[in-house]
Amino acid sequence: MNTELTQEAIIRFSGIHVAFGSNRVFEGLELSVRRDEILTILGESGCGKSVLLKVILGLVPWQQGSVNVDGHTLSPGHDSDLLAVRRKVGMVFQGGALFDSLTVFDNIAYPLRERGISDRAQLRKRAGEVLEMVGLPGIEAKMPAELSGGMRKRVALARAIAEAPKVLLYDEPTTGLDPVNVRRISELIVALRERLGVTAVVVTHDLASAFMISDRIAMVAERRIAAIGSNESLQRSSDPRVRRFLDAMPLGSTEALPGGGP
Ligand SMILES: Nc1ncnc2c1ncn2[C@@H]1O[C@H](COP(=O)(O)OP(=O)(O)O)[C@@H](O)[C@H]1O
Ligand SMILES: [Mg+2]
Repeated sequence: MNTELTQEAIIRFSGIHVAFGSNRVFEGLELSVRRDEILTILGESGCGKSVLLKVILGLVPWQQGSVNVDGHTLSPGHDSDLLAVRRKVGMVFQGGALFDSLTVFDNIAYPLRERGISDRAQLRKRAGEVLEMVGLPGIEAKMPAELSGGMRKRVALARAIAEAPKVLLYDEPTTGLDPVNVRRISELIVALRERLGVTAVVVTHDLASAFMISDRIAMVAERRIAAIGSNESLQRSSDPRVRRFLDAMPLGSTEALPGGGP
């Protein structure tokens, strides 16, 4: 096994440039995600938060720089480690898209089958385990349309953890949910980190949720990480880009957990 990883970063972006034609999204992005932390990414709509997550999985093309994920390096034209990276990294996509025509069981089994696991008893067992972890035991036979929005997000989460990833990427996991479900998903993200020991990178618009769950918060602006630090240091920041963003957003109806704010 690979033991040369001495630095604490499990993901490291180095000098990333991403452009879609003339739309330059990142220019020289640098960011390290620490092993076992929950890092939240904030930033205005369209600033590149989803792109940043997709770079990790090789889902968008980029022009310069490299991303190291737990010892595997991806760079433009060098994606031989992509499969290895995808095995280690699970993603809960924006909207938490489930396959509407498949049962909850088949949704969760899907990525496992893609990986060549076909033993039904094994798939059943794994689906049962991950549904229990997200607090939805026994709903294997239900169709997505029968579930509430909050439940669908939790099934998407169950699907993402089914492959036992080392890193989970969450793209706006609480968007569109009511405050009770925002809190439930936020608590689940923290609980899964404790229980599975996964590192989490969470993109959110929800400041209350960010302050509730994060070890550190990074703010994307002007094609880079404009600021990064503890919740408290972000809240105290005098950087005008941070202030503009934080001051424009009310903390919302969800209380911050202890340590999450004054
Ligand atoms: N696959 C793509 N093709 C072309 N442009 C894209 C693609 N994905 C994202 N973009 C553009 O990149 C920018 C950042 O998008 P995105 O990361 O989705 O923003 P957000 O911060 O809201 O998640 C936007 O201008 C968007 O239009
Ligand atoms: Mg997005």
